[in-house]
Amino acid sequence: MRPTIFQCLMGGYLAIMFLVFSFGAYVAFELNRLSHINHIAAGVDSDVINIAESLSTRLRILVSIEKKHWISQDSDFYLLFSRRQDEFLEQLSLLESLIYENESSAFFKKALTFSHSYFNGVDDWKKHGESVSFSSYELKRNELVQTLLSSLKQIVQAGNRMRDEKIRISESISTKVLWVTIAFAIACIVLSLTVTLLTTRRIVRPIVLFQRKTRDIAAGKYMKIEELRAPREICNLAGEFNAMSERLQELDRLKEDFISHLSHTLRTPLTAIWEASEMLNKGIFDHDPKSQSQLMTIVGNECRRLIFSVNRILDLSRMESKMMDYRFVEADLNELIQSALSRLSPIAQAKNVTMNFLPKADLPRVLVDPDQLHQLLDNLIGNALKYTDPEGSITLDVQVPAAAGGLLHISVTDSGCGIEPHNMQDIFDKFRRIEDEKNTIRGSGLGLAISRHIVKAHGGSIWVESKKGCGSTFYFSLPPASLS
Ligand SMILES: Nc1ncnc2c1ncn2[C@@H]1O[C@H](COP(=O)(O)OP(=O)(O)OP(=O)(O)O)[C@@H](O)[C@H]1O
Ligand SMILES: [Mg+2]
Repeated sequence: MRPTIFQCLMGGYLAIMFLVFSFGAYVAFELNRLSHINHIAAGVDSDVINIAESLSTRLRILVSIEKKHWISQDSDFYLLFSRRQDEFLEQLSLLESLIYENESSAFFKKALTFSHSYFNGVDDWKKHGESVSFSSYELKRNELVQTLLSSLKQIVQAGNRMRDEKIRISESISTKVLWVTIAFAIACIVLSLTVTLLTTRRIVRPIVLFQRKTRDIAAGKYMKIEELRAPREICNLAGEFNAMSERLQELDRLKEDFISHLSHTLRTPLTAIWEASEMLNKGIFDHDPKSQSQLMTIVGNECRRLIFSVNRILDLSRMESKMMDYRFVEADLNELIQSALSRLSPIAQAKNVTMNFLPKADLPRVLVDPDQLHQLLDNLIGNALKYTDPEGSITLDVQVPAAAGGLLHISVTDSGCGIEPHNMQDIFDKFRRIEDEKNTIRGSGLGLAISRHIVKAHGGSIWVESKKGCGSTFYFSLPPASLS
């Protein structure tokens, strides 16, 4: 099944939304990593560098204090050394908590040895007096101090390296995020343009096709839209368009048929009238009053036919525009049918067709416009006579079926040519005629269309039952006066 316009647009926008969501998740992840790296670079690495540098300074201060104490033997220096040593140890343990690694453990051991060895040296000196020289002690001590200072230098350098590395990683992450953002923006623009372009193309192309086909129809070329690659709504519209084109083509054909039938209907009486007037003008029958009066009768008959045809067309257009005036009166259906039969009996006699009707007793009266009902009965009985071969028969009947809710069913049955099943519904449309093989029976295709309007205006319905070659029965229903 083809997707609808909404589904096409939704599909495209869901793809864009998925892209935006993935991009958001990626950016959140990278920003989190960046913030973690910056935190370590700005916090841990900077702390390590600062502490290591402060430990180097403190180490030098401790060495200078112990030298002063050794030389002056002033106990204040001893106390000062002991205080500075506590601070040194505190910083040392802080550094250890930040960078404790196996390679650094030797440094921490040596640093601890350094901080305690001075007191051991002083104790030695106290025990052995002058025999322990400061220079020999200092020699041993300097070696340790140099090792510690170079280790601290290495820690500072390593801290700087780590910090630089993290800054480099941060920069590379920022650059990556920037490029991904640019790529994402381009992808979004391309995808949006593609979605818009494809959807618009799928809508605009069929619209252009519709435009072309509509122009063709306006020019009288009834084209159909065959294959259409478009959303479901437009495919449905194409189906409706084809149905409309078919209907317009049919109406066009009906219009042509109508004009040709009508021109025939009008031309025959007009020609007869014109020729009769020519003859009278030329005085051909000046000395033959009998022929003259026959000619006048023909003119009169043709004028009546002409007026009848024009009136039917006017009646139909009034009925269609709901401008028809109906004058309803209570009437007896038996009488209405009998008067119609007697009106049409000359035609039946001329054709040798028998017409049967048994008036029903106790029929409910009906509320009808007698003129219109005459027209309705004339149409149906007239058709029966027209489409029944000589020696045939026509039967009229009135029933009040129990299942019809009180409606009266009037039927006109003939032994005529019958109607094909596929034509049974169409014959009630205006100008709709079924051409017989020889095309000898003329008509304008208005009788049944007018009949349907009349029946509807009386609150009933009209239908037909027929079998080709076996005759037809036209029914119409009327409500009794009590229900109208
Ligand atoms: N009794 C019938 N038997 C067979 N076909 C019929 C009968 N009545 C109507 N039809 C078919 O229905 C068509 C439409 O009938 P309708 O009365 O509307 O038009 P018409 O008789 O051709 O012309 P008009 O009545 O306007 O002079 C007819 O052309 C005919 O083919
Ligand atoms: Mg007719």
